Amino acid sequence: MPASSPAGPAHPLPIRVMHWVGAAAILCMIFSGITIYNASPSLPFSFPSWMMLGSWLAGGIAWHISAMWVLFVDGVAYLAYGVISGHFRRDIRLPSPGAVSRDMAAALRGRLRHRIGHYNAVQRALYAGVLTAIYVAVATGLSIWKPVQFIWLSGLFGGYPLARNAHLGCMFAIAAFVILHVVLVAIYPRTLVAMLAPVRAEPEESTP
Ligand code: HEM
Ligand code: HEM
Repeated sequence: MPASSPAGPAHPLPIRVMHWVGAAAILCMIFSGITIYNASPSLPFSFPSWMMLGSWLAGGIAWHISAMWVLFVDGVAYLAYGVISGHFRRDIRLPSPGAVSRDMAAALRGRLRHRIGHYNAVQRALYAGVLTAIYVAVATGLSIWKPVQFIWLSGLFGGYPLARNAHLGCMFAIAAFVILHVVLVAIYPRTLVAMLAPVRAEPEESTP
């Protein structure tokens, strides 16, 4: 399952650009969301102040709503490209539970080979999961941002309070993915080069 056409680069230019624009927007959303969260009057816990983008409530909201437009445009472009080019169907299609447990077992034994331009079943499950969490965060975000206009949307999530909890839950899921993702990239630094420059895909070994 090449991440691009077999003759082309491992990650086509649009994917590389949209990945980095989206990653920057997501980091802004996480850290400005933390500023908004910390401003609530009664909290079970609060995040340390160095994690707060915008440093106070109005600043946090300004960052959150500005980065939202970047994420929104990037997300729509990525969705359109992924569907039209066949990238989602080819590279990020949901793997079977058997393939995930087989690749996970191989990874834990240090036997999972990584070929540039090919995603294993664990990666595919993680990428599909984080993309779903991002799109749910956008939908719940819209429903709590404009609760009157998007009342039907918050209704889908069980009402405003549940939509707000789901929004915070998505943030935790996305943040957990990002930590694991960056650790895996550090273990396989060659993949980073291919996400920055037009590196050729390696031949595929076997299809999980
Ligand atoms: C792109 C569409 C989004 C919109 C329109 C949006 C909108 C909002 C709004 C209006 C709030 C304030 C809620 C309140 O009254 O407390 C909020 C809070 C928050 N947002 Fe977003 N958001 C979006 C995406 C995201 C994303 C992608 C993330 C994380 C990756 C995120 C993380 C957070 C967090 C952590 C809070 C604080 C939650 C709380 O106080 O309970 N948001 N968002
Ligand atoms: C901050 C939020 C981030 C999100 C949501 C995210 C999400 C993703 C997704 C969905 C893919 C698959 C892209 C596709 O083929 O369509 C991907 C690939 C990749 N990401 Fe990220 N990413 C983030 C941050 C980062 C960071 C900070 C790094 C580097 C330190 C990074 C490095 C990579 C690399 C190297 C790949 C290709 C992996 C491979 O070829 O095996 N990402 N990322």
